[in-house]
Amino acid sequence: AQNDTDFRPAFHFTPNENWMNDPNGMFFLNGTYHLFFQYYPEGNTWGPMHWGHATSKDMIKWEEQPIALKPDEQGYIFSGSAVVDTENTSGFGDGETAPVIAMFTYHDPKGEEEGREDYQTQAIAYSLDEGKTFTKYEGNPVIENPGIRDFRDPKITRDEVHDQWVMVLSADDITMFYTSQNLKDWELASEFGKGIGAHGGVWECPDFIQMKVEGSEEKKWVLIQSLNPGGFNGGSGTQYFVGDFDGKTFTLDDSMQDLGEDHHYWLDFGKDNYAGVTWANIPEEDGRHLFIGWMSNWQYANEVPTETWRSAMTIAREIKLNKTGDTYRIVSTPAAELQNYKGEKFTKSTVSVEGKTQIATSEEIDISNSVISFEIQDLKDQEYHFSLSSEGDDVLKFGYDHSTEEFYLDRSNSGLTDFNENFGDKVSTAPRLSKDSNLKVKAIVDNMSIELFFDDGETVMTEIFFPEQPIRNFSAEGNEFNLKNLKINQVNLN
Ligand code: FRU
Repeated sequence: AQNDTDFRPAFHFTPNENWMNDPNGMFFLNGTYHLFFQYYPEGNTWGPMHWGHATSKDMIKWEEQPIALKPDEQGYIFSGSAVVDTENTSGFGDGETAPVIAMFTYHDPKGEEEGREDYQTQAIAYSLDEGKTFTKYEGNPVIENPGIRDFRDPKITRDEVHDQWVMVLSADDITMFYTSQNLKDWELASEFGKGIGAHGGVWECPDFIQMKVEGSEEKKWVLIQSLNPGGFNGGSGTQYFVGDFDGKTFTLDDSMQDLGEDHHYWLDFGKDNYAGVTWANIPEEDGRHLFIGWMSNWQYANEVPTETWRSAMTIAREIKLNKTGDTYRIVSTPAAELQNYKGEKFTKSTVSVEGKTQIATSEEIDISNSVISFEIQDLKDQEYHFSLSSEGDDVLKFGYDHSTEEFYLDRSNSGLTDFNENFGDKVSTAPRLSKDSNLKVKAIVDNMSIELFFDDGETVMTEIFFPEQPIRNFSAEGNEFNLKNLKINQVNLN
């Protein structure tokens, strides 16, 4: 059976050792992407939180760095963000290097134990060496707790339109908007979210970005808002809202008015993409919105069958804002940099499927770390099934039913599942949002994960799985159809 070492992803970020959850404080500076993360360096389950740190030239190949922030007498270092303060609005700069300002939540475990409500506050730290080391500000906390138990995960954005810093913060199950000129003094500007969208759990790890609508000059503000539980397929999930921002208040777009609990505005419909946010300080010439999420779910994150390390990040993704009619949608695609690591290739222009049909095996190409893409043209009202299987009994299934316009992902027989009852009990589903008569599928497969990008990322499903034997076969099943433009590319980081 496979173990710890075999499960470690070949091209997704994992900490060398021990526990990781949310991505934090991501920024780009002088050619380097920084990724910080919720980290417990002394154990393989959640514990007193630190900020771990990793750097990369391309968001694919990561190098772990020394821990950036450690807990102190004010508490654990919970999730947050970082910005590059190019204009030195904070005054922390030394006149040479632009200071990097990190903002995070202090979680005071003593306050929590005493049953108080005010044990989460917001604090800042600054770095004068491009994020290598941070000094905590002596004036912390910069935002006191107003008596709200869940009050955390500050994400700062530069709002060029109103020449200010904007910070979004989760408070119970709403989002609070703060503004600042200097990153130290923050003013509560507005609140958003009562009665809007899904509220099955606490809102956590928001992000707020201005996005250009694809193919037009229109700009909208997008609030990305994770919540736990209450995700589309149970447990942790990330929804988003599109609207406008006047410098103080975020107003939901008309097309999303009356958005209730059940909606289709999810960044990812799979169970394992949580607390994801975007990189700060991406140069204007690049202009992309780059995102990464934690590839797990609080339902079982602490129990997944690895020991020496726990949890991986998603592949870095580019997110874009599309508009069809009056409807805005976020689409996600893997960051283009992944292309640089494509290894051996297996292609076929047409594979005809009838009944159960073998498409590729490890004799031809190693599927266990690969990008698989194909198309189905002229969809019919029928079911299309695909499976990734091992030489043993492990089968991971996914597919599409065109009569209900629904995708599914089924890991119930994918290997180790019984470590938690919520892991393999249900088949995950997702709506097809595209109306195209052709279906495009891209699957990013690593040792313990699959990321399904349907219709160029209009519907995404990310899930982890733990096969007892490595994945060796890719097959399809259905009532006579053609798989077009099949491409399987091994991913090779070396
Ligand atoms: C989200 C979260 C955050 C919090 C952090 C603690 O997964 O619960 O709200 O800051 O994890 O590790």
